[in-house]
Amino acid sequence: MILVTGGAGFIGANFVLDWLAQSDEPVVNLDKLTYAGNRANLADLGANPRHIFVQGDIGDTALLARLLAEHRPRAIINFAAESHVDRSIHGPGDFIQTNVVGTFHLLESVRAYWGALAGDEKAAFRFLHVSTDEVYGSLAPDAPAFTEEHRVEPNSPYSASKAASDHLVRAWHHTYGLPVLTTNCSNNYGPFHFPEKLIPLMIVNALAGKPLPVYGDGLQVRDWLYVKDHCSAIRRVLDAGRLGETYNVGGWNEKPNIEIVHTVCALLDELRPRADGQGYAIQITTVQDRPGHDRRYAIDARKLERELGWKPAETFESGIRKTVEWYLAHPDWVSNVQSGAYREWIAAQYVEPAKAA
Ligand code: NAD
Ligand code: DAU
Repeated sequence: MILVTGGAGFIGANFVLDWLAQSDEPVVNLDKLTYAGNRANLADLGANPRHIFVQGDIGDTALLARLLAEHRPRAIINFAAESHVDRSIHGPGDFIQTNVVGTFHLLESVRAYWGALAGDEKAAFRFLHVSTDEVYGSLAPDAPAFTEEHRVEPNSPYSASKAASDHLVRAWHHTYGLPVLTTNCSNNYGPFHFPEKLIPLMIVNALAGKPLPVYGDGLQVRDWLYVKDHCSAIRRVLDAGRLGETYNVGGWNEKPNIEIVHTVCALLDELRPRADGQGYAIQITTVQDRPGHDRRYAIDARKLERELGWKPAETFESGIRKTVEWYLAHPDWVSNVQSGAYREWIAAQYVEPAKAA
């Protein structure tokens, strides 16, 4: 079996659902269930006996030792993290705790487990660390896309904490021989994306008749990948990646934020027009920019394609349509995640700064 951490979050849940749909191999899913973790993301699994959910922290070494001894996974895939840049600006402590200290404890627990394995079991074991393109910093408009050789220059507390975790993973390979793989992926979108992030926030705010808050001039560029394509890349790297290597994952879909927002508005105009006949774009508003906002990310994913034959299956056009359709079909999921804590975040991030501006 495999052990997945953070498998109740956006990408982790998509990964677990895809894994169990495509393989007989069971999954132990260790997730702390922070505000971003949601068991409803896994509801389609029902009482699937191949899915063992454990609520817990990657920093809990006693729990990890017990889980590893009991289930003897052949691989760990580490999704667990604090993931939202804006939250890292408001409060970086949780990011250091989970992304850096938590990853350290996880690595130490896994090292003890792997060190006691022998023969084929030991040779086949893998630790795959899921990371981000944000560790590379920000690109000038005409600069080539990030390769795996690009300098690590993180600019936010979030990206710095992820870069730190990548360094720990690298060092545990170099020093202790732990069989690790790291993936650095661009911006994901798709089902179960928490509506604090750009695309789902725009969809849910548009439908609720609320402002669509674009930071600054809206010309910051991100490189978008449909979440199922990220999951297929992780499976491919797990199967065939070279130990100790880093693989960039991306969709060659660079787009300025304002274009993303207009695309979402146009799809909603088609699929769920406003009652007054006006376009959703009239709800777009400019708000204060994110401090230290990275201007552009772009991923060069040629190594993954060349070495492991991976390519994304979705275009941006097909993926964003599926995503908007998913949100329209799941109003209950949306209202469930918009709990009291979610409303407090939205008030702190958008209402209070707007008043202050
Ligand atoms: P998310 O915030 O939606 O989910 C994170 C999950 O981790 C949640 O279920 C949460 O409960 C869990 N978690 C948090 N702290 C934990 C802890 N201490 N112990 C156990 N579980 C804990 O994040 P996501 O968008 O699904 O991202 C998953 C991973 O992929 C992260 O490592 C992130 O850095 C990376 N990543 C994300 C993107 C993206 O666009 N979302 C792109 C590239 C890489
Ligand atoms: O690049 C990969 C990263 O992508 C992941 O590592 C992170 O976990 C993930 O959250 C994401 O980070 P971003 O900061 O790029 O994503 P976010 O959806 O928060 O913002 C995307 C862009 O949209 C960014 O330039 C900020 C802007 N934005 C975001 C929000 C929430 C707005 O203009 N308005 C908003 O309300």
